[in-house]
Amino acid sequence: MFLYGIVLFAVAVVSSPLKNDYVINNKRFPENFMFGVATSAYQIEGAWNVDGRTPSIWDNMTHMNPDFTPDKSNGDVACLSYYKYKEDIKLLKAMGVKHYRFSLSWSRILPTGYADKINELGVAYYKNLIAELKINDIEPLVTISHWDLPLTLEALGGFLNEDIQWWFQDYARVVFSLFGDDVKYWITFNEPRQTCMGGYGYGYYPPAIHSEGLLEYVCAHNLLRAHARAWHVYNNEFRSTQGGKISIVVDTSAYIPASDNEEDKVAADTKYYFELGWFANPVHYGDYPEIMRTRVDQRSRAEGRSQSRLPVFTDEEKNLLKGTADFFAFNTYSANIVQHMDDPPISYPPSKYQDQGVRDFQPSEWQNSTQPSWFKIVPWCMRGLLKWIKDHYEDPDILISENGLCTDDDEKRIYYIKNYMSYMRDAMELDDVKVFGYTVWSIMDNFEWQLGYTQKYGLYEIDFNDENRTRKARPSAEFYTNVCKTRCLTDECVD
Ligand SMILES: *[C@@H]1O[C@H](CO)[C@@H](O)[C@H](O)[C@H]1NC(C)=O
Ligand SMILES: *[C@@H]1O[C@H](CO)[C@@H](O)[C@H](O)[C@H]1NC(C)=O
Ligand SMILES: *[C@@H]1O[C@H](CO)[C@@H](O)[C@H](O)[C@H]1NC(C)=O
Repeated sequence: MFLYGIVLFAVAVVSSPLKNDYVINNKRFPENFMFGVATSAYQIEGAWNVDGRTPSIWDNMTHMNPDFTPDKSNGDVACLSYYKYKEDIKLLKAMGVKHYRFSLSWSRILPTGYADKINELGVAYYKNLIAELKINDIEPLVTISHWDLPLTLEALGGFLNEDIQWWFQDYARVVFSLFGDDVKYWITFNEPRQTCMGGYGYGYYPPAIHSEGLLEYVCAHNLLRAHARAWHVYNNEFRSTQGGKISIVVDTSAYIPASDNEEDKVAADTKYYFELGWFANPVHYGDYPEIMRTRVDQRSRAEGRSQSRLPVFTDEEKNLLKGTADFFAFNTYSANIVQHMDDPPISYPPSKYQDQGVRDFQPSEWQNSTQPSWFKIVPWCMRGLLKWIKDHYEDPDILISENGLCTDDDEKRIYYIKNYMSYMRDAMELDDVKVFGYTVWSIMDNFEWQLGYTQKYGLYEIDFNDENRTRKARPSAEFYTNVCKTRCLTDECVD
């Protein structure tokens, strides 16, 4: 997980509903509801150069620029899960989770990045991991690519090269054919918004290219093509025999209109379309949201460009993209208030923020996490967020694929998870939102990207100075175990 908070305008007075009288939902979750936890390869595996794995963009960035993280750290060792996966699965089993979301390291399976050479030792690791999960009745939910692009492919432009659709298609075919008999839930990409905004927009992730409002759109365009190609490979070649489902994980904040004024409501919708709809619309409807098309086209023209900065899909690509999410999977952590503003003047360089033309911020009176303080705890926004997705994407089956809190105060973590889950349960009960699963980020503290090991999301604590990376349960692990076992958030639930 990572949450990027930029508060560009500190606007004061906002009606933020204070829900002090809120009562935790005491309805039991449906019997087949999927409670799970999540991790990703680079953040936990370690063994970065072991058994034939080659570097990813994250290895390169952290090795070449130690100052990239505040603690000058990297994922070389991380949680040692490459060696300790059986121990991890014991924890999952004891917790009673139904699913475990983890990711495959592309360069561990395909050391050149291409499907020319399959690394048997890397494959064996994932085969063993999946087999161990199956023995323990835990459903593997597999992310094919979670930010750790092979360095060999970045050298060719990474997501700026449209050939990535073929590289990824070939990789996906390899993993479907290797692991697909045992995997029923596939995710192509994790949080493409972060991949593109972080990697090719603001530059806070590798490859750290700064090109807001331009190359970040190109990245997204190619990533979406790659997603669609992989979905069709699964659909055409594997679905009939393997019978699984495949989707993409998007990430979004909850966007709340600053007032009941029509202008602010439109502004909040615009924000949703530019952040969530950027990916969710193409995979559901085959193209970018209309408001995005209109605004970026118009601003591009005003900048004297003959081509829009937002690339255009061909009709064939639109048809390929449409309907390529078998379920709606998203990660969410916080919320923003959104307010109408006058259209920003045309200026150079462009930015997605100006393209949106809305103002967003987090009121200071919202509850802070402890680390970092900009992570605002806003559980009550969960119901509205789920309703927005239901209303805009044809009432899909929804998986919350990540939610959790970075904090050094575990009581806050429990409060956060309990309340977010409760508002999610409200949405299921009162708005008939079809949520079928919820996933805590994360089972254990891990390498939190450019924040290194300074941010703690784990239900299990790890001391990264301990050479064995011993896992130690926090009270929140016990809390979540209880939720998984009773399917209930309070001491007594009603069916
Ligand atoms: C690897 O990192 C170095 C130093 O940051 C950078 O110059 C180089 O472009 C990176 N390689 C790739 C393929 O991105
Ligand atoms: C949250 O943190 C910010 C920055 O440290 C501070 O200004 C604000 O008062 C805090 N808000 C609450 C509700 O504690
Ligand atoms: C790590 O594990 C090894 C083998 O079990 C043990 O000998 C060693 O004392 C442990 N180190 C720490 C710091 O716990």
